[in-house]
Amino acid sequence: MLTPLHPFTQTLLQWFAQHQRQMPWRHCGDPYAIWLSEVILQQTRVQQGWDYWQRFMQRFPTVEQLAAASQDEVLRLWQGLGYYSRARHLHEAARQIVALGRFPDTYDALLSLSGVGPYTAAAVASLAFHLPYPALDGNAYRVLARHFGIPLPIHSARGQQTFLALARELMPADRAADFNLAMMDFGSLQCTPTAPQCARCPLVETCIAAREGKVSLLPVRPKPAGKKIRRFRYVYIRCQGYTAIHQRPAGDIWQGLWEPPLTEAAADSAEGTHSAGVLPCPPQAEGAETQLLVEGIKHVLTHQIILATLCLWQTDTRPTLPPDYRWIPEEQLADYALPRLVEKLLAFLP
Ligand code: ADE
Ligand code: SF4
Repeated sequence: MLTPLHPFTQTLLQWFAQHQRQMPWRHCGDPYAIWLSEVILQQTRVQQGWDYWQRFMQRFPTVEQLAAASQDEVLRLWQGLGYYSRARHLHEAARQIVALGRFPDTYDALLSLSGVGPYTAAAVASLAFHLPYPALDGNAYRVLARHFGIPLPIHSARGQQTFLALARELMPADRAADFNLAMMDFGSLQCTPTAPQCARCPLVETCIAAREGKVSLLPVRPKPAGKKIRRFRYVYIRCQGYTAIHQRPAGDIWQGLWEPPLTEAAADSAEGTHSAGVLPCPPQAEGAETQLLVEGIKHVLTHQIILATLCLWQTDTRPTLPPDYRWIPEEQLADYALPRLVEKLLAFLP
């Protein structure tokens, strides 16, 4: 027995039949390709993510090939997408899947993979295995909050429960994939964050936000927490065609990515603190060979803002560096995964 479709769902699916966006991973049926797309698209626009998805699929057509790669190669391919922990989890999960011997095909088994949360588990369960799990991304929350007039912050516990319960009621059990994709597309093409086309919306007659003039007030967003400001002073050493880099350690941003020596100023001081492996900038033996190349470069991350400076230190003798530094020919820098900020800074090198 099929329960009749909710009027919202009926209209949404009709709209979807005409307006859906075509993407190569949709309906391709390959759980690996679908999972990969979801991980890439989590914090990335479709347009940018598309290229990366294609590059990953070309280099690693199967989950076995991804699992067999080095972490360095995965990070290098990820370079530019940001949020590198996603790449490390992706790689780790690929190894878990290979160890399992098959791609997990239940919601719970998907949820147990590294880096896979409720959204990704539901997306893969529905898109690859047609299981009836609502995958609520920011687009879906916005559509539901507006159409049903729900004034709960989407990240609050009550908000999550309410939106999920509503989506479960609306989702047709046999059309989970279409329903989830329709919510995403409706949110990104029709019910957009700042310019929803309410006058030309097929759902306007039942939309509570439109009726009550609350479209711009929904969804309710929590106040953003203040971002921590950090000051990074990088010293690029140029020594007879070589330069020194090291890999960022665990427990901070950009784990596993490479960078030149740096000093991080203490939060409450303008002075550089000298932690391990850090060179003063400009080097204390200030000489003609030291140059300030750029300062005040601002790089905004989710929870912090980095203000960065780059100096160039040209020298004929290699300074002593801690053992985790590696001297490499300058032209090999391109072979290392660098944070986007470091790439930006290195563009200032003469
Ligand atoms: N199609 C499938 N998953 C998607 C996503 N996360 N964002 C946009 N389109 C998608
Ligand atoms: Fe969104 Fe406006 Fe349509 Fe309501 S009427 S669903 S707010 S686009």
